[in-house]
Amino acid sequence: MDLEKLFMTRQSTREYDPDKTVSDGDLLEICRLAKLAPSAVNSQPYILHIVTGEKAKAFSPNVQVLGSNKWASDCPAFIALEEGKPAVVERLGQRLTKTEFLPIDIGIVSAYIVLAAENMGIQTCILGMRNEKGIAKFLGLKEGAKFPLVIALGYAKEGYPVREKKRRAFEENVTITK
Ligand SMILES: Cc1cc2nc3c(=O)[nH]c(=O)nc-3n(C[C@H](O)[C@H](O)[C@H](O)COP(=O)(O)O)c2cc1C
Repeated sequence: MDLEKLFMTRQSTREYDPDKTVSDGDLLEICRLAKLAPSAVNSQPYILHIVTGEKAKAFSPNVQVLGSNKWASDCPAFIALEEGKPAVVERLGQRLTKTEFLPIDIGIVSAYIVLAAENMGIQTCILGMRNEKGIAKFLGLKEGAKFPLVIALGYAKEGYPVREKKRRAFEENVTITK
């Protein structure tokens, strides 16, 4: 898809067709493409956990904390991003620059996931509202595992509109210095 068209059509989709599943092949392909994302010292400090099929419905309460994201019950697949351990060089760089690169790396790979999915005609929504303890338990991982983001994936319900993009005025967050 043309890049501008891709950026304009990618949106946070909050109504999924519960009868349309995303194939394992497509979910794995999205992750393969997303793994091409850059990360500090190429550390790739994350694990992408795909939850799909019958497990997706059981997983959805983990992204419905405090009554949020009710629509996620109809979502046929999720990718939970688990925080990994940054490489030693990345940790050194973090200390030197007083910057935590790990959440930045996770943000970038999330952007790759949603754009790769949209390019394949699959809609997404990045979810910050999540229950990390619940996700760790669900996946059988140790308590304390961190899941900074979850991404919902599926096919938008028929007729779900592509919204107009609402963004701050260009001059508000873009400058050019020559
Ligand atoms: C870090 C992050 C956390 C988000 N958490 C949620 C969420 O829990 N639920 C939700 O419906 N949307 C969530 N969103 C989606 C944003 O609301 C959305 O990206 C923003 O409003 C811009 O709209 P658009 O994605 O349709 O262009 C999140 C987005 C990001 C980047």
